[in-house]
Parts: sequence; structure tokens; C-alpha cells
Amino acid sequence: MRVLLFTGKGGVGKTTAAAATAAAAAARGSKTLVLSTDPAHSLADALGVALTAAPTEVDTGLYAMQVDAQAAFERTWREVQSYLLGLLERAGVDALQAEELTVLPGADEVLALLEVSRQVTTGPWDLVVVDCAPTGETLRLLALPEALTWYVERVFPAQRRALRAVRPLLSRVSGPVVPREDVFDAVERLHRELLQVREVLTAATTSVRLVLTPEAVVVAEARRTLTSLALYGYRVDALLANRVFPPSAEPFLAGWVAAQAEQLALVRADAGGLPVLELPYQPGEPVGLPALTELGAALYAGEELAGHPVEPVPLLGVARTTDGFELSLALPLARISDVCLTRSGDELAVTVAGHRRLLSLPSALRRCTVTGAVLRGGRLLVRFEPDPALWMRT
Ligand SMILES: Nc1ncnc2c1ncn2[C@@H]1O[C@H](COP(=O)(O)OP(=O)(O)OP(=O)(O)O)[C@@H](O)[C@H]1O
Ligand SMILES: [Mg+2]
Repeated sequence: MRVLLFTGKGGVGKTTAAAATAAAAAARGSKTLVLSTDPAHSLADALGVALTAAPTEVDTGLYAMQVDAQAAFERTWREVQSYLLGLLERAGVDALQAEELTVLPGADEVLALLEVSRQVTTGPWDLVVVDCAPTGETLRLLALPEALTWYVERVFPAQRRALRAVRPLLSRVSGPVVPREDVFDAVERLHRELLQVREVLTAATTSVRLVLTPEAVVVAEARRTLTSLALYGYRVDALLANRVFPPSAEPFLAGWVAAQAEQLALVRADAGGLPVLELPYQPGEPVGLPALTELGAALYAGEELAGHPVEPVPLLGVARTTDGFELSLALPLARISDVCLTRSGDELAVTVAGHRRLLSLPSALRRCTVTGAVLRGGRLLVRFEPDPALWMRT
């Protein structure tokens, strides 16, 4: 079972690329499901068929579905949210703030991802292709299981114990302060399901394809996205450059061709060995199965990328050097000016373009000092040298 997630800036062609990839994979004999975390019905529009909340076979071996996030939300989170709201308001938290705190960020997409993980774990698929929301949202959402784990593990057990203790007293106070067991059950169920989502998303058989168009603004955002995906531990296995103009002698188009070639060269130079596939600008909107199948065939011509596992670049590594150690972190397309490193005891905080990740240092590195860092070949290399004072201590 292979899972491919498509993301990228708004409008770059995520839905088109996801549908074309699914069509290409089905044409090569993989039983494929394509679904979108986008509540808009754009996947159905791109395929040119009506979709429902159950997988529908739209072509031989090609299935597509539309996640009904609203219905899923009602089922999973509503009771938890109303309970939390009541509790926070009673605790004197400002109503607006309470609302903020209890909103499940990116709920539609979280719920869509629950469906993805359900399909991955129980479905009959060789390949599941997911058309994700634009960059920012997707990132938040992809990081969410970690945030929820933190929330559930730290807040709920303590609250549960405290509430159990005061339950007899509180039951005399008007209003339901003590949550019913089903609220806890719902939270715990959600927590378990989100852990499963994270497992599916970070599995070795799951990878992300970042769609971009070869324009400076889009490439700049793609750099940030790629870096934060790497920081969060996602494997990116290819970049898809969409809407690439064909060579032309006509001055207007020739200007675009030259500008795109320049951006593509920059992307290739910094991609750290990631394949950069090109999707030509079509003379019309590639809508409907025949157009998408053709596009998919062109995109993956001669490539084993439609549904085969990839060997991901190791995300994190430590190597011995003559002077000490070198820690390396995959950060394709990152710029050194966007990277900030802070050492705090046993942890190294890596911040890239506003995204932060804490790396727990292995014991050998804890007793070293950081002596420098460079970005080379899509990796951040941090040099560590033994600190004699620290090595003396033990
Ligand atoms: N290579 C291409 N040539 C011509 N038109 C294209 C190409 N790729 C995508 N399009 C068209 O561009 C539009 C946007 O594409 P698409 O919906 O796939 O983008 P998206 O990234 O999913 O957008 P959103 O962020 O809104 O979900 C669509 O009308 C699509 O048919
Ligand atoms: Mg889309």
C-alpha cells in the first residue's frame, strides 16, 4: 500500500496533479483511490464525475470519493467542544478565548485525514492519492496530531483525575461541569485515531509530492513548505513543476519560457537530489478522465513514480568527523538566512522560516559545543566539538 499526498500553493494544480497521478497509476494496473481533503468539490469537477462519500469506480481500477467532513465533525468533535466551552467559561476564561481554544484547527481536513487513514488501514487499495489543501493549512494540519497528543496527554489525564475527585461536590452545583464519560471516550477515541493518522502519514510507504509553478513567488513558498515538511518529518519524494510553457519564438511566450527556465534551474540546484518532474502547460483545462489520464502518462513517462515505494533521503544523521561530530538534517530548498539554531541544554532548536523543531541530542553530542553550521546539498550540517569541561564531568 502506497500513499501519495499532494500539496502546494493555492491554484498551482494540486487537484489536477493528484487526479492525473491516480489515473496514471490505475492505467498501470494499481487499484487506486483518489480523495481530497478540500471541502470544495474540485476533485469531482476535475474528474468530471459526481462523487459521493463512498468510493466510486470512475474508471477501471480508479476509485474516487468525496469526504463528508460535516457529518464526520458532528460525529467526533461537537460533544467534546461544547463540554470544553462550558468548562473554560466556568473557569473564568473569556468566552472568545474559550472559543479559540476549543476550535479544532483545520477540522475539515483533520476529519478528511481520518477517512484517509481508515481507507489506508481497511481498504483494498494498492495506492491512495490524497489531494491536500494549500500549503499553510496542510502544514498546520499535518503537525496537529503532535499538538493533540500533547493536549490530550497533558491536559486530559490531569483534568480527569481532578474532576473525579471533585465530582461529588460539583454534582450539587447547577449545570454539567463534570463531563459525562462519553466525552472522555470521544476524546480518547479521537486521540487514538489521530495517532493512527500520524502513523499513516509518516509511514515509510507514504510520501509527499510538492506541486509548484516555476514562478519566483511560488518557488519561494515551495521552499518554505518543503523545509517545514522536512522539519516535521515528512518524506517528500518529488517536486512537480506544473504549467511549464513549451519553447516558443513568439516574444511574449519566449519571455515566460526564459523566466521559467531560470526558476527551474534554481529549484533543481537546491533540490538536494529530489526529482523535479515537469507538467507542460496544456492548451486547455485538463478536465475529465481522458485529459487527466493523458497528462498522467506524460508526467510519469519512463518514471517509476506512479505507485512505487521510494527510498527516502535519511532525515537525520550523525557522523563522526576528525574534530568531533556532524549532525545532518534534510532541509531541501532551504536558505541559510532563514535558518536559526539555538542550543538549549540537551536540545537543539532548529527554526526555519518560522517553523521550529526541537531535536533531542544523542548523549555524545550533549557533551559537545556547536562550532558551526552550513547548508550543503539540501542538508543542514551542524558541527559539534567535544567540550573538555563536559567530558570531564562523567
Ligand atoms: N498543466 C496545466 N495546463 C493547463 N491548465 C491547468 C494545468 N494544470 C492545472 N490547470 C488548470 O488550472 C486550474 C487550477 O488547477 P487545480 O484545481 O488542479 O489547482 P489546485 O492547486 O488544486 O487549486 P486549489 O488550491 O484551489 O485547490 C484548473 O482549472 C486546472 O484545470
Ligand atoms: Mg484543488
